[in-house]
Amino acid sequence: MLASRRILLIIGGGIAAYKALDLIRRLRERGASVTPVLTRAGAEFVTPLSVSALAGQKVFADLFDLTDEAEMGHIELSRSADLIVVAPATADLMAKMAHGHADDLASTLLLATDTPVLLAPAMNVRMWQHAATQRNLATLRADGIGFVGPNEGDMACGEHGPGRMAEVPEILAAVEAALSDGPLRGRRVLVTSGPTHEPIDPVRYIANRSSGAQGTAIARALAALGAEVVFVTGPATVPPPGGVTVVRVETAREMLAAVERALPADAAIFAAAVADWRVAQASGRKIKKSGGALPVLEFAENPDILETVSRMDKGRPPLVVGFAAETHDVVEHATAKRARKGCDWILANDVSAGTGIMGGAENAVTLITEEGAESWPRMGKDQVAARLAERIARALA
Ligand code: CTP
Repeated sequence: MLASRRILLIIGGGIAAYKALDLIRRLRERGASVTPVLTRAGAEFVTPLSVSALAGQKVFADLFDLTDEAEMGHIELSRSADLIVVAPATADLMAKMAHGHADDLASTLLLATDTPVLLAPAMNVRMWQHAATQRNLATLRADGIGFVGPNEGDMACGEHGPGRMAEVPEILAAVEAALSDGPLRGRRVLVTSGPTHEPIDPVRYIANRSSGAQGTAIARALAALGAEVVFVTGPATVPPPGGVTVVRVETAREMLAAVERALPADAAIFAAAVADWRVAQASGRKIKKSGGALPVLEFAENPDILETVSRMDKGRPPLVVGFAAETHDVVEHATAKRARKGCDWILANDVSAGTGIMGGAENAVTLITEEGAESWPRMGKDQVAARLAERIARALA
């Protein structure tokens, strides 16, 4: 709940500005007050009248509005909130913020503020992927700016890919996380989850039985402690949690690329069941039965994402956590795996037949750290996640 929390909402220019209207309603429903700021471009997409009617307050739009300066200067306006939310945050606004411009009300407020800031970017895929925007993103993250989204999907401009603004429930959850006094507030954590699918041809693939339940529970538990979570997931059966940035991938190689794009992070948790091998030459066309001859599949090794990140020279997250699925000699194997992969912690689970852990609701884990092995009693995957999230919070404190 956001009772008596004060949100300064900057609405930038983009087709996603219409979602900001719903966002205002939902924030107020939760008890927050919303002071709206509409950029000139934003006003091309939504009217000041609808924004002020929903916010129940006047809309601030012009830096040189002297009445406002007399009543409340822009400095005060920028600091009177508990959180500044920019939704949609355009490429232009991000560029202005990254370079410290202050040539309109929105950019001036963002430069003058000492309040936490949360951006919900929305832009064309190419603009998001452009090196300039990615540079600005890295700068803003390093400056401590929080982000929710963008999501992947079909865009109003007809293209497909990352750039869609996060949905209102996701932004609400990110607002709640940013305002929580949880111990992971202001921390960015990456979580991988689910299986990967490795194509054989356009209709067939190699997969595994991971449901994504444990990774999903971990992402949810981290968000509940206030972390900004990037959730990179393969095609899992369990739906992703709310309040996290979801990046959907299929193959191990796509997962590695998504992980690299999501860094830097304060911690990275690798809960995905990544396929160790892929078909070396996946066929571009469906493989047909050909007179009784059986197809022969040749395999190639997939990159080890956990190991790649653990051994990064530059930008390695300070805490890297891997998983190990073992059927016997759990501690020995997991301890060796920790050393081999170079990660800080390994959460080993006993997946031997009859435990019902793979795909089940419970888990029995042993946490392997530099100090040694610590066996946790068998408990629900949500409880494992909560306990791990608390340990992570303590480690990052
Ligand atoms: N992992 C990864 N990339 C891979 C393979 C595994 O990031 N290509 C990560 C998993 O997310 C997990 C850990 O590494 O955190 C598991 O390591 P892995 O070597 O696959 O161990 P097990 O699944 O336990 O299996 P094995 O017995 O084959 O070692």
